[in-house]
Amino acid sequence: MTGDFRTLPADERSAAALAEQGLRYELVGDDPERHDGFSQAVSRGFYGEQLTAERLGERRPGFADNRSIGVYDDMAAEPLVPVATVDSWTSPLGMPGGSSLESWAISMVTVAPTHRRRGIARALLEGELRTAAAHGSPIAVLTVSESTIYGRYGFGPATWAAELVVDTTRADWVGPTPAGRLHLVSREAVREFGPAIEERARAHGSIATWGGFWDRQLGLRPSDASSAASIRAVRYDDEAGAPQGFAVYRVKDSGPDFTKHPVEVIELIAASDDAYAALWRYLLELDLVHEVVAVNRSVDEPVRFMVADARAVQTRSVTDHLWARILDLPRCLEGRTWQQAGRLVLDVADPLDFASGRIALDVDADGRATVSSSTENPDITLGVAALSSVLLGGASPITLAAAGRLAGEPTAVERLSRMAVTPTPPTLGFWF
Ligand SMILES: CC(C)(COP(=O)(O)OP(=O)(O)OC[C@H]1O[C@@H](n2cnc3c(N)ncnc32)[C@H](O)[C@@H]1OP(=O)(O)O)[C@@H](O)C(=O)NCCC(=O)NCCS
Repeated sequence: MTGDFRTLPADERSAAALAEQGLRYELVGDDPERHDGFSQAVSRGFYGEQLTAERLGERRPGFADNRSIGVYDDMAAEPLVPVATVDSWTSPLGMPGGSSLESWAISMVTVAPTHRRRGIARALLEGELRTAAAHGSPIAVLTVSESTIYGRYGFGPATWAAELVVDTTRADWVGPTPAGRLHLVSREAVREFGPAIEERARAHGSIATWGGFWDRQLGLRPSDASSAASIRAVRYDDEAGAPQGFAVYRVKDSGPDFTKHPVEVIELIAASDDAYAALWRYLLELDLVHEVVAVNRSVDEPVRFMVADARAVQTRSVTDHLWARILDLPRCLEGRTWQQAGRLVLDVADPLDFASGRIALDVDADGRATVSSSTENPDITLGVAALSSVLLGGASPITLAAAGRLAGEPTAVERLSRMAVTPTPPTLGFWF
């Protein structure tokens, strides 16, 4: 890694490309007025509200932790509000096998409606990738508003998220009955103990949470006071009294029938199977509730097998969630554990040329990989986006071959699939 990512200069090539359009591409820096302009631009870009002074003030501390870039148009009516924004930070990304790799997380990509479709987003994204690579981050990650935007920059969908809707009238509990106990707790208490449990429970495919994330999820920002008052929380402690998981939820308005309250699960985070079972059981057995809805869940949730009627647990949607972009092939492929030993020569195409090349992937009996450059005939030919989808175990090479996203003899494709599959799916439980 090269120094503090927050102070890395704005990418020169992107700055030059945008200067040709009379635009300034710059770090937002430390000026509170520029912070506020950036926040307003982001809110406007995602069709959010015009932010009040209170909300602007709440967002200011976050600028100290991230690297924020604005594109400024001096001819705009409000020149301190950038016409385009992007925000980034480095974060450990959980890899298959339990280790983590430093990732370059990208967020808040917006271009003002008045400035769209003239290459500004391309300059932002390519600038981020060049800066990340120069910093030494081996992979970039983001979540997306539309799945049409980022493939062109070499990102591939790497985790999937399910929205579950449980009809509690059909969901009689047949799962385990853990021996620990549940405690109703305050949102403020969750802010204290929650992040440590989340860190222990974190799946491969997830980046780290951060302070502002918890304040938002728990509704602890002063401006959330009225909307967050209905948020409740429950914690599971094991028999020894050690906290192992928690759920944060909201019982919503029932309408005219008081027996039909829907429950929105904001977080259900469990560091043990017992905590998982106890927390789901608690939510599914709440009185006066007919439906429990949980978003950003794994596509392979054990709760389906814990209720008498498996069809009580419906999947309303499954969508791509984390998108990943390999920048450094050897560090990414050596940064995970593989499921099976084997050797394959991969020919990787990368239009932006961060990760192109022919490499031999050698995996030993312990699942450890060694990557070396190769001149042999390739077993598999694929683009960097497809390999980024495979890396965390979220996409099967067999499926990608059938989709025309990678090519190779069927035996080689199957070997890569056996090597890359993970025992549980990669999962990211939140947006960033
Ligand atoms: C998505 C957004 C950032 C694109 O900005 P932009 O400056 O208009 O994009 P560019 O002009 O740089 O376009 C680059 C390429 O992306 C394509 N593109 C841009 N927006 C697209 C979209 N929404 N869907 C599909 N393709 C898109 C362009 O056609 C262009 O294609 P090319 O590579 O074939 O030339 C902008 O429309 C926006 O702010 N949208 C609302 C907020 C949002 O969704 N942000 C993304 C958050 S993840």
